[in-house]
Amino acid sequence: MEESIEWVEKYRPKSLSDLVGNKKSIVDMREWAESWLSGVPEKRAVILHGPAGVGKTSAAHALAKDFDWETIELNASDQRTAGAIERVAGSAAKMSSLTGTSTKRLIILDEADNMHGNADRGGARAVGSIIKTTDQPIVLIANDLYGLTPSIRSSCIELKFNSVQGRSMIPALKKICVEEKIMCGVGVLEKLADNAGGDMRSAVKDLQAVALGRDEIYIEDIATSERDTKESIFKALGKIFKSTDPKSALQATYGLDETPENLIHWIDENLPLQYGTQEGTEEDLITGYRHLSKADRYLGRVRKRQSYRLWRYAGVLMTCGTVVSKSHVSRGFTKYQPPSFWRKMGQLRSKRDMRDNIASRIGDHCNESMRYSRTDLAHLYGRMLKDDAYAVDVAVNLDLNVDEMVYLTGGKKVTKGIQKINDLAQAQRSTYGNDDAPVFFEKKAVKKVQDKKQMDLNQIMQSAASNGNSKAEETSKTVNSAPKDDPKPDQKPAAKAKPQRTLFDF
Ligand SMILES: Nc1ncnc2c1ncn2[C@@H]1O[C@H](COP(=O)(O)OP(=O)(O)OP(=O)(O)O)[C@@H](O)[C@H]1O
Ligand SMILES: [Mg+2]
Repeated sequence: MEESIEWVEKYRPKSLSDLVGNKKSIVDMREWAESWLSGVPEKRAVILHGPAGVGKTSAAHALAKDFDWETIELNASDQRTAGAIERVAGSAAKMSSLTGTSTKRLIILDEADNMHGNADRGGARAVGSIIKTTDQPIVLIANDLYGLTPSIRSSCIELKFNSVQGRSMIPALKKICVEEKIMCGVGVLEKLADNAGGDMRSAVKDLQAVALGRDEIYIEDIATSERDTKESIFKALGKIFKSTDPKSALQATYGLDETPENLIHWIDENLPLQYGTQEGTEEDLITGYRHLSKADRYLGRVRKRQSYRLWRYAGVLMTCGTVVSKSHVSRGFTKYQPPSFWRKMGQLRSKRDMRDNIASRIGDHCNESMRYSRTDLAHLYGRMLKDDAYAVDVAVNLDLNVDEMVYLTGGKKVTKGIQKINDLAQAQRSTYGNDDAPVFFEKKAVKKVQDKKQMDLNQIMQSAASNGNSKAEETSKTVNSAPKDDPKPDQKPAAKAKPQRTLFDF
């Protein structure tokens, strides 16, 4: 059982002093954190950048532990739209003032160079503005510094994390061996450190792979247990689709960094590109999918019963099943595609979440069900957002961010117009104070909104009167006196309040 624990997690540095290599960046990071102890420093964020597996994420968490700060993490797998970032970072800032403690919350934005594309739309801009205004320390982590916008970079301290030198790795690897009671032969750790090419994570992973089921390791063991690296998913797919030996295909999947849940998507995506493309091989595709569907059933059982032992059967069915389904081997180079399912799911999920989120706020605003808000009211709000007279009020009352405005107006990207509405809405919000409750629920906001409505109606009435338009006057009177002169006295008073107070209450 012990063997199943990933050593990279088990031995993740707990304190900055446990990290090996990159001493200068770590000292600078600590100094920056210390500067937070006496107020808000000039640069409120740092960017830790550098290659994979050198301790960037570990350093951010270790810093928080050393300073006894809580952490709030936004990973690439989270939805990092402008709205989400504002909410998370904003609440982090408020939380400390609510509890009255001075404890900081370290906001960690991992893979910050991955913030483009639809899912993170507006995210980079939100990060830029939060860095300038936050009263909580922020750590951005990136592999590629150039994946960050110049404006973000200019407001952060850039700390480079270089590859860890082999000789620095050795003491850390030795410590792990002592903890795990493993005897190492001469040159073993040196070779592991050498193979890792500066990536400490891969050194630890390799050590675990070699030490699996042994209490002594020798230099000969290393050569035979070379771990497949991440990019070898393509090699493994090659074995699955091009070889006729199920055993070697299965072995190629053992060292992968992919779970069977992911591997099945890879096979599913590429199966129709490989099998059944030539006449007479259609049956290969059908048989292949038959095996995949069986494998998928096992994966479903794993999910349902949490019995990960079944992964093994799923793995065999999807790899060996695919190998034995082919009636002939296609030669030549094939470019394997990453699963489009992931992309679609990501897009769908973020769209659906956004749609429901907006609908629920419209529902609150109109005192209507979420479903009715989604199907019938959302497009009305979208239309009001396109109308200059209402746009800012809609944005303030529904607490919309730029992504949500784009969605409601049915647009594709953030336009200048939407940006302007957002800026005006921000300005209006800031005049309401910085409370946790959304602006919409504040009395002040509602009052202001009502005043405006009153003024607009008065203006309409005045202009109607001055034009001598008696019809218009009558109409406006009816609007104002409608509740009093109700022609049907038996009508329920509660029904009145709902629609009138809501949709046009701007
Ligand atoms: N400098 C280091 N000192 C000690 N252990 C390290 C160091 N760097 C990495 N490790 C080991 O590798 C694991 C992964 O490190 P970490 O997640 O911090 O890397 P990273 O730089 O964030 O990589 P990536 O860019 O892939 O996210 C850690 O849990 C730890 O076991
Ligand atoms: Mg990381």
